[in-house]
Amino acid sequence: MPRRYHAPFAFRSRTRYMNTLHGSHRWDFPFQRPLLAAPASWLGDLEHAYAVRWFSNHGALARRLEAALATRCARNVVIAANGTAAITAALMVLGLARGRAVVMPAFTFPATLSAVEQAGLTPLLADVDPLHWELAPDGVAAACEGRDDVGAVLAVRAFGLCRDLSPLQGWCQARALPLIVDAAAALGGELDDGQPVGGQGAMETFSLHATKVFAIGEGGAIACSEEDVGALRRCMNFGLDGSDLPGPGFNGKLSEFAAAIGLAQDRVFDAQLAARRQAAAAYTRFVDDLAPRWTSAQAPGRPPWQVFPLLAPDAGSADAIEAALARRSVQVRRYYRPALQLTAAAANYAAGPLPVAADLASRMVCLPMYSDWGPDELPRLLDRVDAALRECGQR
Ligand SMILES: Cc1ncc(COP(=O)(O)O)c(C=O)c1O
Repeated sequence: MPRRYHAPFAFRSRTRYMNTLHGSHRWDFPFQRPLLAAPASWLGDLEHAYAVRWFSNHGALARRLEAALATRCARNVVIAANGTAAITAALMVLGLARGRAVVMPAFTFPATLSAVEQAGLTPLLADVDPLHWELAPDGVAAACEGRDDVGAVLAVRAFGLCRDLSPLQGWCQARALPLIVDAAAALGGELDDGQPVGGQGAMETFSLHATKVFAIGEGGAIACSEEDVGALRRCMNFGLDGSDLPGPGFNGKLSEFAAAIGLAQDRVFDAQLAARRQAAAAYTRFVDDLAPRWTSAQAPGRPPWQVFPLLAPDAGSADAIEAALARRSVQVRRYYRPALQLTAAAANYAAGPLPVAADLASRMVCLPMYSDWGPDELPRLLDRVDAALRECGQR
């Protein structure tokens, strides 16, 4: 039977996926607890939209949200319908010829791949670095070896980690290759030197999906230089420039309703970031003290911590801990599994066997993370993680 391709890789069976999707399985500690701003905090903002009868197409609330995010990224921001649309638009405005190759990591969520295909370009899957889990110059160089069709590099901030991408940026600059950064889960993060995420590469793109830290339901954003703003807006408005159609485009606009939620989200975001950073610090101390064979990514900067990713010493331990935690009603996810080169949809795009991506995908366990931890909730969760580690002989 041919392998089936389901976007939410973390679920092993369709039944379990549907049960979880529809809430029939109740976890004491679900992997995520999406938190959107309550309607009372954003309904008032919509009065203007109703008064002027303007509900989409770069409305006043969308512009205000762009300004708020631009402050956070220290760069211009254009908002988008979702994170996949944001990557697609960023690639499309590069103006590459149809079918040109875009180097991207094999260790990522499938949306990165879809965006390249939607932009009319050809993914070229490269291996990632074993220590920081992302693209590095040597992996990109290996993927490009012997090819003259590479038009761009699309890096991914894995799990929203916030490393300084200067080495990759320098490598791309030296070859006049544009670098786009899929920073889907990294909005609000900072590099080690305090620089906000958003400023590296030609553009950095974000997701504002309900499961992200800056959550508005569905939404996206592109941090870019001023000269790209107009082209991005046109691209996500069907390619229209007034009544002219100078290039390709699609509908990637965000409604005023989603923008209103975004403005309310912006008002509570700093407190949520602080809660997640505190929890990540507690996870880190716990792992360092009790399970030192489980490792984290090197040089992660100061991420917003959408999830807490942890690398098991081997695939068997990752499987065992997932099962032991499930028995204790703690839900984990195995992002990004399988590595894309092992899927039917993407196998043909692999630049080689890509062993690091395959290995990381088999060993990664993402632990629950919330914006609204209850009193004593994290210590209770850590107790269960501790018990699961003991049961699996991991500590
Ligand atoms: C790495 C990565 N890129 C892109 C996306 C796509 O974002 P969206 O769901 O908003 O389209 C995601 C979503 O989780 C992601 O994890």
